[in-house]
Amino acid sequence: MPSKILLVGGGGREDAIARRIVESGSQLFSALKNRNPSIISLSTDTLITDELDHSAILEFALRKGVDLAFIGPDPVLDTPLADMLISRGVRVASPTRLAARIETSKAYMRELLSRYEIPGSIEYHEAKSVQDLQKMILDSTADYAVKPTGLTGGKGVKVMGIHLETRQDAFQYAKEVLERDGIVLLEEKISGEEFSQMVFTDGTHIMPMPLAQDFKRAYEGDLGPNTGGMGSITDSDHLLPFIDSGTRERALQIISSVINAMRSEGNEFRGIMYGQFMKTPQGPRVIEINARFADPEGINVLSISSGNFTEMLYSIADGNLRKSIDFKKSATVLKYVVPVGYGTIPRPGRLEIDGNFENENLKIYYAAVSGTRENVVMSSSRALAVVGIADRIWDASDIVENGLKKIHGEYYVRHDIGTRDMIQKKISQS
Ligand code: AMP
Ligand code: GLY
Repeated sequence: MPSKILLVGGGGREDAIARRIVESGSQLFSALKNRNPSIISLSTDTLITDELDHSAILEFALRKGVDLAFIGPDPVLDTPLADMLISRGVRVASPTRLAARIETSKAYMRELLSRYEIPGSIEYHEAKSVQDLQKMILDSTADYAVKPTGLTGGKGVKVMGIHLETRQDAFQYAKEVLERDGIVLLEEKISGEEFSQMVFTDGTHIMPMPLAQDFKRAYEGDLGPNTGGMGSITDSDHLLPFIDSGTRERALQIISSVINAMRSEGNEFRGIMYGQFMKTPQGPRVIEINARFADPEGINVLSISSGNFTEMLYSIADGNLRKSIDFKKSATVLKYVVPVGYGTIPRPGRLEIDGNFENENLKIYYAAVSGTRENVVMSSSRALAVVGIADRIWDASDIVENGLKKIHGEYYVRHDIGTRDMIQKKISQS
């Protein structure tokens, strides 16, 4: 009897996960808010629901008799769904709500790093009054990243000198967050190349995935507002051309230390941990720790994975991590097709796609869309993730560009991601 796996979420990341689950011989049951044509066609049964409606999803999971559940999106990790499933005897390969606090509360994450003296920490202040903001922003010369402490979908962080031009702008934005949340984080502003390191973990052991880099800014040349991510790259040696293996080792040490610290305080983390780091002359610094696959970076690594993904999920949930999947030694480039105006005022339309043009080196994943595979209805969010696979990053980028010729309609895409120009510039600056 094949395993029955519940997957929650209807984005590009979940389409990639869904394919690996089905390829490993399991039956897929999906719960998502949009009628994602790819996930629906892979599923034995689908529940279209508000993804935060944990009672409806629990009821669906029990009625279908699923054996194991996996949660894609971060807002769902901040509901009691994982805990409820576990208490009803369903295996879960995602963290409990308490363990997900490593992502859902930046204050918890920063305090954990300090308490356990884990390297990679940066200076931060939890501002709780307008007087704090006055003192730290207006009466000071320090530059900060201004962050809400909770989830923001990648869009709530604003950095002085980048998104906030003047001290007054920074003060106003921090005050807005403070008035809404009662607290705002002011983090020391740092600079350097960013990289994403994801690992599978059973709460004790880790299995690293290839390093990736995400492009968060809306426009080419890394300009414009932060978004959920416009695209991402990985390299064939599973490092990045501008990140050395020593830096990666230190990042993995930081992730292991976080996992050990959480276990030692009775808050064991099972699932995927995703560290977002910045490379500095003093070593990697932690920007965020997340409790799930990155979107888009998770799609890059899943596109070059082979082996039994379901077995990996079981080993995470059961606390006996086994290496049941591998990653091909190829570079990948992903570019997200988004509605025009994404990041500011999106104008979603429709996309026509020429037949099924996927092959071994070119994949297309369906994100926050509905409609059919050939006639896609966009929402205000990301629509299609086009992934190229090749020996070199820029060749993978060319494969994506060829793939884009098969997609028709009004859309925006960052063509600069993964080009030879971009990569060489990064190498020369690192
Ligand atoms: P986050 O949502 O925390 O991942 O932040 C979004 C983006 O803001 C990051 O990818 C960085 O480019 C930038 N950022 C966040 N924190 C800092 C920081 N402390 N210093 C400089 N840039 C930052
Ligand atoms: N790659 C950005 C995120 O998943 O949060």
